[in-house]
Amino acid sequence: MKSYSYILFILLFVFASCSHQTEITSPDGSLFVSFRLTDAGAPEYAVALDGETVIDWSALGLKCAEQDMTANFVLQGSDSRFHQETWETVWGEEREITDTYKEMVVHLRHSSGAEMDITFRAFNDGFAFRYSFSEQELKSLTITEEASEYRFTAEHQVWSIPWRTEYYEGLWTKAPLSAIDTVCSPVTIELQNGGYAFVHEASLRDYPAQNLYYADGALRTYLTPWLDEHAHIMPDKAYKNVPFPSPWRMVILTRTLPELVASRIMLNLNPPCRIDDTSWIKPMKFMGIWWGMHIKTMTWEAGPKHGATTANMERYLRFAKEHGIDAVLAEGWNLGWEDWKHFDFTTPYPDWDMDYLSKLAGELGVQIVGHNETGGNAADYECNLDSIYRYHAAHGIHAIKTGYVSPIVRTVNGLQFNKGQAGVRHYRKVIETAAKYHICIDNHEPVMPTGLQRTWPNLMTQEGVRGQEWNAWSVDGGNPCEHVTVLPFTRILAGPVDFTPGVFHFENPVIPTTRVHSTLMNQLGLFVCFYSPLQMACDLPEHYMEHADAFRFIEQVPCDWEHSLLVDGKIGDFCIFARQGRATDDWYIGGITDEQPREAVVPLSMLDQGKKYSLTLYRDGDDADWLTRPYAYNIEKGEVTCSDTLRIRMAAGGGFAAAILPKN
Ligand code: NOJ
Repeated sequence: MKSYSYILFILLFVFASCSHQTEITSPDGSLFVSFRLTDAGAPEYAVALDGETVIDWSALGLKCAEQDMTANFVLQGSDSRFHQETWETVWGEEREITDTYKEMVVHLRHSSGAEMDITFRAFNDGFAFRYSFSEQELKSLTITEEASEYRFTAEHQVWSIPWRTEYYEGLWTKAPLSAIDTVCSPVTIELQNGGYAFVHEASLRDYPAQNLYYADGALRTYLTPWLDEHAHIMPDKAYKNVPFPSPWRMVILTRTLPELVASRIMLNLNPPCRIDDTSWIKPMKFMGIWWGMHIKTMTWEAGPKHGATTANMERYLRFAKEHGIDAVLAEGWNLGWEDWKHFDFTTPYPDWDMDYLSKLAGELGVQIVGHNETGGNAADYECNLDSIYRYHAAHGIHAIKTGYVSPIVRTVNGLQFNKGQAGVRHYRKVIETAAKYHICIDNHEPVMPTGLQRTWPNLMTQEGVRGQEWNAWSVDGGNPCEHVTVLPFTRILAGPVDFTPGVFHFENPVIPTTRVHSTLMNQLGLFVCFYSPLQMACDLPEHYMEHADAFRFIEQVPCDWEHSLLVDGKIGDFCIFARQGRATDDWYIGGITDEQPREAVVPLSMLDQGKKYSLTLYRDGDDADWLTRPYAYNIEKGEVTCSDTLRIRMAAGGGFAAAILPKN
């Protein structure tokens, strides 16, 4: 009798495991994602890397106004598959991206009758999951929260910015996991054992952006809420019609920083390109009538210091032509800058001759980058998108910088957070409409990028960062040296950034308490370390001509790449990137450091064996220092091969840049 009950117990256990717990491994077997239903029918997952539990059993599910979908599920079954594909980017940090994962879909039935699938993907460098509802009796859901959590098994260190940081323009800080109050997604985590995690979302569509907070031992999800007619926070987060999938919840999980930076999980989780002919989408370097407004020597609005005049733009266009810069941005060319409330996107100020300038730009072969600041009136902009883009396209303008300066935007659904569901819908509509008119978008005051550019590569770059402009006017004196050494491992992992590198003149007589905390060589290093396919060289032409020999690097450096790699780095201390220009054998290396001087050690093993290359090295002068001698630099030339190692001293707040071109 005893042995019968023992066998029965084993059978029950096996049955229970089969019906309630299921798992997948990454293709290389290093990462293990398990799923189970608890006795209460609550879905949970756990993750192990190299046999060590990194994320313990963590909650899944959705809280909805109609019903609580965090428990009372039964497992109907599960499917799994292996996927491997290599796809070509329209532009990017590399030409080819490989997408390899194992997928497991668990089919759940809720006690209410609703059916929900959870799809897990295990990659060699992380994992992702999402909820989906197929066509069924249930027709809609009001999501009031997502139960998704990440129960990390140790007290790691987390880099983050608070969730209400206006436009994500904050300084990232590091804090223990348990001290994380509500912060924006993404967060970058330095794991106790020396590895790294990057928690974010991918393919954010018609859904609020996620935020994260720590409670009861886990990092949890706080979806950006809807606001009511008085702009007060509502309990509702997302209104969804069934069928729909949620965005992907993703975690990059790697042992080293170069692997973290090289992960392409976020792009791989977005659907393939939806634009058939992408030949009109071109990565470009651009200058602009812009920095002058920020250092207050020019104005956006018409008047004696008006920046966007026909004569000034002509000067910029001719300068760009002479120096091989692809395009010129002009801000303040259109009516509305007096009160920032009623922008007119198709009527220039009288001192801006659009017909003349667009004809001149065409003759010179230099593009004009348009500028549409909405002042946060997204609704007005959205209602006029077609006529606005038709006007720009008719003037040969194929790239537009958009802006939403207002902490809360006026959407077609009233005043809302820009990263709430209404804001996310708006940005999406802008990108899709712009594509119809062959217009690329540089989105300022955006929602945090989530890899949408794979599907819509006309979404080329975004701000969502405390950028260079803070060095022009910030009351706290400007960005500390450390800031730029944090961004490649935090914000920029979410996608291209319009940081606007390239200030060459650090004194600002109008706001003397503020300055750029870097050497000139650090500014050059940014062109390689900060990836953007629309890359701005932000300073004035006359400032570039003060250091024409150093400007040569900006003229030369591409903004579209065949391969990219992090040579070395430490979050908040320094970083060194090497990138190969797309469809060339040319390599560019950039390094930046914080307020600590340090030596960059760069083995050139990425170069082809047996080839000789010419090196032009732009490096800090021996006595350079961001505060006392920011302009001290040397330019050295030489010959290198793949067996050489460069050793370059970076000054306090300094850096370097190198162009390494094959010799014939
Ligand atoms: C804020 C943007 O970040 C900046 O680049 C732009 O110049 C101003 N808004 C005006 O649109």
